[in-house]
Amino acid sequence: MGKIGILGAMTSEITLLKGRMSDRRETTRAGRTFYEGKISGADVVLVCCGVGKVNSALTCQMVIDWFGVDAVINIGVAGSGGEAKVREIVVSSDAIYHDLHGLNAEDEILPQCYPFVRSFQADPKLVQLAMDACKGRVKAYTGRIATGDQFIGSKDVKDDIVARTHPMAIEMEGTSIAHACAVNDIPFVIIRSISDNADDGAEMSFDTFETIAANDAAEIVTTMLQKL
Ligand code: ADE
Repeated sequence: MGKIGILGAMTSEITLLKGRMSDRRETTRAGRTFYEGKISGADVVLVCCGVGKVNSALTCQMVIDWFGVDAVINIGVAGSGGEAKVREIVVSSDAIYHDLHGLNAEDEILPQCYPFVRSFQADPKLVQLAMDACKGRVKAYTGRIATGDQFIGSKDVKDDIVARTHPMAIEMEGTSIAHACAVNDIPFVIIRSISDNADDGAEMSFDTFETIAANDAAEIVTTMLQKL
C-alpha cells in the first residue's frame, strides 16, 4: 500500500511502535518528531501529534504533504460510547465531531459547510484488516468514533454526546485526522483501545489503563502492517 502514516496523540500511544521500528530516521518540524522506517516490513512514518483536533489535523496534513503517505492509521485510547468495555478495541466505521455545532447542540454545522458531510467514512479495506488483526486476540467492534476538544469524564456530558452522535468510542483526534484525510483523498482508519467509560470514573480508569490500552492498540497495528 506504499507508505503508511501512523498518528498517536500521546507518547504512550506511539512508544511501543517506535521501539519496533527498524531503519529509523527522525525529522522534527513544527514541534513534532516524525519517525520514518519500517514496522512489520511496511514503510511507515510514525508521529506523536499532540492532543486535540488542531494538533492532529495539522500533523495529518504534514504527513500527507511532506512524507507522501498513501494511508493513515490513527491509534490510541478512547472512552467507551456504550457497548465496548475497557481493553476492548473499536475500529472506526466512520468519525464525527461531537462539538462542531450551532447555538443548539442539535444544529450540526458540517453538513451545511465544506466538506458537506456529517461524518467521515473509514476505508473498508483498512477496517477489515484491523478487525482481522483483532480476531482470536481481543474483542473488537466496528463503530462510530466521536471526537471533540474535551476529555469526557461525566455521565451527563457523555449521555448528551451519545444521544446526539451514537458513538462506539469517544476521543479527541480521530475525526480531525479523518477530515484531513478525506479532503486529501487519503484512506484512513482509527483504531482505539478503550481505557475508560467516559463517565464519572473516567479519570481514574484512564490513569490506570492508558499505557496498557495504548499498547493493545499498537499490537493490533503491528499485526495489521504485516498485511499491508
Ligand atoms: N481518550 C481516552 N478517554 C477519553 C475520554 N474519556 N474522553 C476523551 N478522550 C479520551
